[in-house]
Amino acid sequence: MQDLESKTEKEVLSWAYSNFGDSISIAFSGQMEDVVVLDLASKIRKNPRLFTLDTGRLPKETYELMDAVRDRYNVSIDVYFPDKQKLENMVKEHGFNLFYNSKDLRKMCCGVRKVEPLQRALAGLSGWITGLRRDQWDSRAQIKKVEIDESHGNITKVNPIADWSYENILEYTKSNNLPYNKLYEKGYKSIGCEPCTRPVLEGMHPRSGRWWWEEGDKECGLHVKE
Ligand code: ADX
Ligand code: SF4
Repeated sequence: MQDLESKTEKEVLSWAYSNFGDSISIAFSGQMEDVVVLDLASKIRKNPRLFTLDTGRLPKETYELMDAVRDRYNVSIDVYFPDKQKLENMVKEHGFNLFYNSKDLRKMCCGVRKVEPLQRALAGLSGWITGLRRDQWDSRAQIKKVEIDESHGNITKVNPIADWSYENILEYTKSNNLPYNKLYEKGYKSIGCEPCTRPVLEGMHPRSGRWWWEEGDKECGLHVKE
């Protein structure tokens, strides 16, 4: 594959859309990074495809942002929910807030609510575009702007803002007046499911508010390589 590491985010996205067109879709979680990616993409491609994994436990502010984005960019969002049977079985056996009880149960919940739906979202696509950044966590420090996603049938994974900092994201959001998740006004710096995300104090690692009660890695499995 062509080496795109030295290319800008716009060049990377242009490459992605000219190669994959409508068979590539933006993974949209409602965080600032994803709105930046959508904004950049919409300058290159009319009505870019987007999908979201609705875990059923997202904060109301995330749903508000999703609707604001639909209106502003005139896009529709493909929504993937957890498999009904798997979800019912998990909650019946382990309770609603199982994630607080052990890391294994937390990973089980992420598996049912995010990882399995992601597999369905990516089935039939040639590629996906994310808002991942290298400085989000050690496990992300080595990501490339364009990768082959071996965990998902060797499709292409595009991380156009891999080399952006959190400050770059804030600056772009402000100067382009982008819609944003209102939780950022309450001290949140990384936003996932409501019961598993909390605001962080100034100076703390932006991702420390995710699964804050756990030690160790801060991954739910969406971006973990097999
Ligand atoms: S996670 O693995 O911890 O959940 P994170 O919240 O850092 O991921 O988001 C990184 C990128 O993964 C986002 O920019 C987005 O592209 C994708 N992503 C995360 N959560 C979702 C979601 N619920 N739906 C769609 N894409 C998501
Ligand atoms: Fe479940 Fe929390 Fe993972 Fe969301 S982030 S899928 S609620 S464990």
